[in-house]
Amino acid sequence: MKELIFIPLAGLGHIVSAIEFAKQILNRDENFSISFLIMELPLDYGVHNFIQSLTSQPRLKFIDISLDEKTSSGFLNNHETFLYNFIDGHKSLVREYVHNICKTSSCYGFILDMFCTSMIDIANEFNVPSYIYFASNASFLGLCLHFETLRNEQHSDTSRYMNSNEALSIPSFKNLCPTKVLPKHLLDSRLASTLFFDGICRFKETKGIIVNTFFELESFSLQALSDSKMVPKIYPVGPVVSFEKSSHFRNNSLEIESIIKWLDDQQDSSVVFLCFGSMGSFEAEQIKEIATALEHCGHRFLWSLRKSPPKGKVDIPTSYNNYEEVLPKGFLERTKERGKIIGWAPQVTILSHPSIGGFVSHCGWNSILESVHFGVPIATWPLYAEQQMNAFLLVKELGLGEEIKLDYVVDFEGKNNQVDIVSTQEIGSGLLKLMVKS
Ligand SMILES: *[C@@H]1O[C@H](CO)[C@@H](O)[C@H](O)[C@H]1NC(C)=O
Ligand SMILES: *[C@@H]1O[C@H](CO)[C@@H](O)[C@H](O)[C@H]1NC(C)=O
Ligand SMILES: *[C@@H]1O[C@H](CO)[C@@H](O)[C@H](O)[C@H]1NC(C)=O
Repeated sequence: MKELIFIPLAGLGHIVSAIEFAKQILNRDENFSISFLIMELPLDYGVHNFIQSLTSQPRLKFIDISLDEKTSSGFLNNHETFLYNFIDGHKSLVREYVHNICKTSSCYGFILDMFCTSMIDIANEFNVPSYIYFASNASFLGLCLHFETLRNEQHSDTSRYMNSNEALSIPSFKNLCPTKVLPKHLLDSRLASTLFFDGICRFKETKGIIVNTFFELESFSLQALSDSKMVPKIYPVGPVVSFEKSSHFRNNSLEIESIIKWLDDQQDSSVVFLCFGSMGSFEAEQIKEIATALEHCGHRFLWSLRKSPPKGKVDIPTSYNNYEEVLPKGFLERTKERGKIIGWAPQVTILSHPSIGGFVSHCGWNSILESVHFGVPIATWPLYAEQQMNAFLLVKELGLGEEIKLDYVVDFEGKNNQVDIVSTQEIGSGLLKLMVKS
């Protein structure tokens, strides 16, 4: 048996797609087996329950190499270095596991999440190759590699683009790219960004980068990457979309049944679905604008509404006990014939339903691929990280989406008190264009 060691980042956005890709390898070659080494993050992102809920599959193993809660949480004392210290803290456990594996089978190589490049050290100790599994797409990969070169090789101060109105020429982009849509962490000079790019720099030591995209979608970027001598071989393997009912692990099967039943009762392509990802939530003021837009637009809607963590606290959104506490008075009563509000959404199940006619999304890459897969038009409402970028590419480079907002930024660490509010009118006009398209 040829054993692959897969080290994902244990956040749902990363791991669901990683597991799906691993299954594709196993289906293609009966001589491979894959061990996922799971490093559970100190905040619960539902990964443990998700893995528990998977139907077991031959040759696919999940090995829990988590540190104890106290050690893991200890790394949180420094937010900037947290992720890297956390990952490095697992090196000896990885070494131990691979050492034991080597007694009975041959270790064939490591597949690493983009943040786990320090594990290349361990692969080197065992003299096996490393590959990166890049859960985002080729344009973002090109962007990361370009800024890594600017920063580390040309020693350019990219923070000067922070508040500028310039547009940059970037090899993996067709259009000039406005600097204001660039993820801030690519530009600033904080320690966290330096560590991020030190990780990206190590991509060049690997034997290949596996990207969740496909040539027809991103031919320009993929061509630019393969033309570059600095970049290892690129493997576009997408779209990798999980049908594992990825949210059913929350075990709220009654709620899921009620969602499906409600969708079954609606006409084809008549419902707009609003969902903002596992970190997505809004303050009361913004929720009222969305509600008012939904009430005025007249379309049927399914809205995944999540409660923000307390101000200043880094945590994932939770469920409301009572939606009335945040919605305009009488909203639920007035819209009960055509709208449904839900908590956590089984996104793949919903997007695959014929009654869905449009998707208002934070534009995480997984969400984009899922929506493209099911042919559902998207209106963009990016919240954080590289999503402004996604929205720009989706609307401008590929013409696949409608714009609600391209440069809306929520500081989800809760430090920024000046949150931009997207108005009822902006939301309404986005909804109008979205639902006409479908
Ligand atoms: C798996 O190994 C067997 C025995 O070495 C070989 O005959 C077979 O072709 C291999 N399968 C693949 C898909 O390479
Ligand atoms: C889900 O909930 C049902 C009923 O509460 C329970 O019987 C079942 O074991 C649960 N499944 C999982 C995977 O936790
Ligand atoms: C690819 O990912 C980048 C960054 O995540 C994003 O900007 C872009 O929109 C994605 N590609 C497409 C076709 O959406």
